[in-house]
Amino acid sequence: MSKSTVKIGFRQPDGEIQEIDAPIGQSVMQAAIFNNVDGIEAECGGSCMCATCHIYLSDDLQAIAGEANEEENEMLEETAAERRPSSRLSCQITVVEDMNGKVFDVPDCQS
Ligand code: FES
Repeated sequence: MSKSTVKIGFRQPDGEIQEIDAPIGQSVMQAAIFNNVDGIEAECGGSCMCATCHIYLSDDLQAIAGEANEEENEMLEETAAERRPSSRLSCQITVVEDMNGKVFDVPDCQS
């Protein structure tokens, strides 16, 4: 039987990591909001229109999550915190089994 949730972590700028159970198939943003992860605002509710769900991915998470599409890339120009090569919008990333045990970095500001 395959698992329906994976453990993922969110690292705050001060280094503190919050680990949550994230349902496979949900967006990383939804899992974060549902678990009250600090620093993920998600004002637009996941429509790729606010950039307040900005997050940084490690190399291995980038390999799992793939590339941002054109719409997301445009929104990433609007992030409040510095945009990095590892920047993504968490509402555009789906939780998959391979993310188990991985940690996402939360930027120091979202708006
Ligand atoms: S929640 Fe608004 S862009 Fe992701």
